[in-house]
Amino acid sequence: MTENVTHDLKVDHTRDERARQNFVSGMRNYVLNGLAAHLRTVYDNKVEPAFVKANKRKPKDGPEVHKAMKDETLFKYYSNLRCNTQEAVWRSVIPGVEREIEDLNRRAQVLSQSTENAQGTLTVDPKFDVPRYVSELDVHLMPGNYHEERVAGDISQGAIYENGLSVFAMGLLGSRMDDITQSVSTYFQMRNPDFKPTRILDMGCTAGHSTLPWKDRYPEAEVIGIDVGAPMVRYAHARAQSYGVTAHFAQKDAEHAGFEDESFDIIYSCMFLHEVPGKNIRNILKEAHRMLKPGGVMIHYELPPNNIMTPYDGFYLDWDAYYNKEPFYKPFRDMDPSDECARAGFDKKDFFYYIAPSLNFYGTDALKKAADEDKAQSDSNVGRFGDGVKWFTFGCWKH
Ligand SMILES: C[S@@+](CC[C@H](N)C(=O)[O-])C[C@H]1O[C@@H](n2cnc3c(N)ncnc32)[C@H](O)[C@@H]1O
Repeated sequence: MTENVTHDLKVDHTRDERARQNFVSGMRNYVLNGLAAHLRTVYDNKVEPAFVKANKRKPKDGPEVHKAMKDETLFKYYSNLRCNTQEAVWRSVIPGVEREIEDLNRRAQVLSQSTENAQGTLTVDPKFDVPRYVSELDVHLMPGNYHEERVAGDISQGAIYENGLSVFAMGLLGSRMDDITQSVSTYFQMRNPDFKPTRILDMGCTAGHSTLPWKDRYPEAEVIGIDVGAPMVRYAHARAQSYGVTAHFAQKDAEHAGFEDESFDIIYSCMFLHEVPGKNIRNILKEAHRMLKPGGVMIHYELPPNNIMTPYDGFYLDWDAYYNKEPFYKPFRDMDPSDECARAGFDKKDFFYYIAPSLNFYGTDALKKAADEDKAQSDSNVGRFGDGVKWFTFGCWKH
């Protein structure tokens, strides 16, 4: 089911629009669970045995599985339905946003200017150059991507993103649709109870779902979200103000964010790096290393890398790179995160990854149990995939 947006930028969708959104959400659920399970059966019972017969070995990686699966009728059907439901996500929310665009922009302005509930700041740079890998692409088929502005001071791409996410997420992300960072930051805090950050940066913050949970964990800290999309930082700021959370948002490029050297305790990103080309990722990690205080930590929630997955799972996750306008997704997943951290100036021995269970899905006790068990096992490379909703996270301490 579709989650409702729960703050003052809520769009008043018509009954028909709500019905369409619920249908699309249900259809995605069917494709990603029901059809995906059939696809796996076809692979196990037919495609892999045929591959083994012809090659005297199993497929060695995702691309070999992809090649073997490509002509299967069920794979074509799955891909077709998945592309169509992805487009339908956006189509189901855009009419409501367009209808309310003037009022939404006015509401956002009022929220941003008010200091009644919260005192966060907003910085938009009128001369800002949006990188081409954002301005030239409708990433994951979202028309207008993260940057397009229809009128001055526009937030509508932010509204399309958040309303689209509410359909896309099928109810998995909780009432504020921030379960990923709620889970990941809670898990981090449980594993590092003595760590007391005072300044936290969220890179590629979009609508602020990945920014505000840090303020829940560390209410005394200054929390800053940056993004190259002006509509995103405007929306994120107004949303934070509406929730009464003081957080600061600025239009900045994480490759040269320009904050002082050694000025952050935590530099975080969520679902960000896989949308960035490799050479820009390398610049971003270096910039994070420069801005981190000694003793600080860089943390990224991300798609797990191919080198810790089976060929079939790698193929399944990389679907988006081929069919969902996510051209940097597979190159990112082919990188080794610990190598990339080392290349940026971190020490490999300070690298870690963990797999945090979803707070929304399993609750706090399960998260605590997993964090305690993982802490007991080792201080790095912990967690288990398995079934259910779990979030892969990697990072590195700076010494
Ligand atoms: C998938 S979204 C991130 C989602 C968000 N963190 C969340 O948890 O909801 C990727 C975001 O990164 C932004 N972005 C892309 N390149 C960037 C860069 N070099 N610096 C800052 N933001 C960037 C995009 O504009 C987009 O808003």
